[in-house]
Amino acid sequence: MKLSDLGLTFLTLPLVIRTSTASGPWCYDLQDVSCGPLHWKDMDQNCGGNNQSPINIERRKTIRDRSLDEISFEGYDQAPAGRWTLLNDGHTVTMSLDGATVVDQINITKGGLRDTYRALQFHFHWGDDHTNGSEHAIDGRQYPMELHLVHMNIKYKAFNEAKGHPNGLAVLSFLFKMSETDNTNYDTIVAGLKNITQPGLSIDLASTFPLSILLPNMAFLSKYYRYKGSLTTPGCEEVVSWTVFEEQIPISKPQFNAFINTVYYKSKIKPTKMSNNFRPLQPLKRRKVYASRDASISRSSPLAVNLLFPLLLAFVTSCQLSGLC
Ligand SMILES: *[C@@H]1O[C@H](CO)[C@@H](O)[C@H](O)[C@H]1NC(C)=O
Ligand SMILES: *[C@@H]1O[C@H](CO)[C@@H](O)[C@H](O)[C@H]1NC(C)=O
Ligand SMILES: *[C@@H]1O[C@H](CO)[C@@H](O)[C@H](O)[C@H]1NC(C)=O
Ligand SMILES: [Zn+2]
Repeated sequence: MKLSDLGLTFLTLPLVIRTSTASGPWCYDLQDVSCGPLHWKDMDQNCGGNNQSPINIERRKTIRDRSLDEISFEGYDQAPAGRWTLLNDGHTVTMSLDGATVVDQINITKGGLRDTYRALQFHFHWGDDHTNGSEHAIDGRQYPMELHLVHMNIKYKAFNEAKGHPNGLAVLSFLFKMSETDNTNYDTIVAGLKNITQPGLSIDLASTFPLSILLPNMAFLSKYYRYKGSLTTPGCEEVVSWTVFEEQIPISKPQFNAFINTVYYKSKIKPTKMSNNFRPLQPLKRRKVYASRDASISRSSPLAVNLLFPLLLAFVTSCQLSGLC
């Protein structure tokens, strides 16, 4: 062995070690606290950036933007040809819409988006009881579960390419609320969980269905909040136009319980049921959140009515009594 070879070995070794920690596996706290969300920024510096997601949306601080009109949902109302695959990826349950031959049938435009974005997949984040579990919060309130529909700018050929561009991705976010009755539109997904209990398992659905059945009634979808943020898992790329809808999706307790009791995380330590797979809230920093033309920008009105109406009445009465009006 020549001396120069030795030198090269010593030079390259530390580099190799650093690369392997940088791409180390991330996880949620339930899997292993040492690779949980608080450590993601050590694995990927994007995760410590200034435009991270999720955030708390404080409605009275949002800015009304009347150009945020109705989003045009194309192909959402039909069951597309092709095959959808439900997968346990070790962190969440994902429905891949992209494995099929026909891939350009479901897309979104308008609603303040400058480009057309094609639907690639959707997945969920959830808690371990019926309260917390969503990633985004509205006025400080978390919801039991959140649905993310991930779309890629059609300017790009693949997800990995889109992740490298500031307007690469658009994610639609829906929060869930608990309901007394089953949301039967979720039956296919809930039933499919039994077939993907372990990480890496997937099933192909016998048939596809219109994506719109998973969402609240279309009449409510013009109410939403928009901001620029990131993917909520490493590499935390800051390339996402987020749309968080005001109207929630109902789901029953038994359906929700199927998520928390059926599927398992990837875990080296011990088998762990998949839950609490949400990232904590990230600081808004210098960003603004925009409210769509139809979105609510204050907390619900009963408080205002209860407070203001008696005040007004008192004013009118006293001014009548004093004879000044
Ligand atoms: C968007 O989806 C519609 C409905 O499936 C389809 O007709 C159209 O070609 C798609 N547009 C693009 C740009 O992919
Ligand atoms: C869940 O929500 C409650 C109140 O909404 C909050 O006090 C608590 O810290 C939350 N827990 C987690 C794990 O986020
Ligand atoms: C899913 O699991 C059920 C039993 O739990 C089984 O009857 C069914 O055939 C499975 N489906 C697929 C596509 O593997
Ligand atoms: Zn997500």
